[in-house]
Amino acid sequence: MILAIETSCDDTCAAIVEPDGRRALSNVVHTQTEHNRYGGVVPEVASRAHLERLDGVIEKSLDDAGVTLADVSRVAVTVRPGLIGALLVGVAAAKGIAYSRSLPLVPVNHLEGHVAAAYLAEPGLEPPFVALIASGGHTALYCVDQNHNMHLLGETLDDAAGEALDKGARMLGLGFPGGPALQRAAQGGDRARYDFPIALKEKNNLDFSFSGLKTSLLYRLKELGEEQARTELPHLAASYESAVVEALVRKLLRAADLHEAPALVVAGGVAANTLLRRTLEQECAKLNTKLVIPPPELCTDNAAMIGAAAPHTPAIAYPNYLSLNARSV
Ligand code: KG4
Ligand code: ZN
Repeated sequence: MILAIETSCDDTCAAIVEPDGRRALSNVVHTQTEHNRYGGVVPEVASRAHLERLDGVIEKSLDDAGVTLADVSRVAVTVRPGLIGALLVGVAAAKGIAYSRSLPLVPVNHLEGHVAAAYLAEPGLEPPFVALIASGGHTALYCVDQNHNMHLLGETLDDAAGEALDKGARMLGLGFPGGPALQRAAQGGDRARYDFPIALKEKNNLDFSFSGLKTSLLYRLKELGEEQARTELPHLAASYESAVVEALVRKLLRAADLHEAPALVVAGGVAANTLLRRTLEQECAKLNTKLVIPPPELCTDNAAMIGAAAPHTPAIAYPNYLSLNARSV
């Protein structure tokens, strides 16, 4: 079994995944609520909370799977990208466990983990495919080749899609994280009421930009004034959410077309969004293109996806990983 650990941001996660990375026996996520009152993730608070929680989360992942450390043959851990202090807690724990049991350690890239969540959702899936990762920290399109190598096709030039949703939600006085809050507020709202901009529409461009959208919401709120903005909330939320979703859908379909992708994968926290999922399901059905979007709990940060990426990541033999470092980028 693979023991997988993920601590790159504000979720403390551990999972037990089968050796081929296609099935998780457990997937424990402790979401840190300490950040909610700050309206964003505080790096120091995240590191400390990981330190306090990680042992218990790992123990629970073993218990939930009905295994012990004796059943673990490899330890996989997120080494980059993420908050450096948060990553280091997971990396140190993984090194300690692997070293104490003379096991190899697999250093996993968080973004490859997000994509690998698709193998848990659909165990028969094989590349090539085009993948969209849309999370709080990243928004990028990749072509994943037969050897599981990821080639960057385009990315955001400023904010990530999740960041745009989080900041938009904050401007609208909604809670953190903003994505789910905005989705709730948008229910029953008119998506066409406000015409928010979609950047970089030009043909063949596979990059994203969300900073103009954010500014546009700010101006719109100023124009409306506090009271009217309150009554318009469902429409503002729906129009804003819809602009983010439309930007993602457009570029993903364009990448699929340019690269003649036989399948599409969508991953990262924003892939939990219902409007995005529904729109892509409809578009892919029309195009007869296979679409894999993992269930929401595998889209947001978790360790099962890190275990799923492990079979495609070179392992470091015992004990050569003691000097292994985490990286923020
Ligand atoms: O992948 P993730 O859990 O962490 C990062 O690696 O960033 O993504 C978190 C992001 C946040 O910006 C959050 O607002 C967004 O995913 N998110 C959503 C939904 N659930 C989480 N965005 C839209 N709709 C959702 N249902
Ligand atoms: Zn993530």
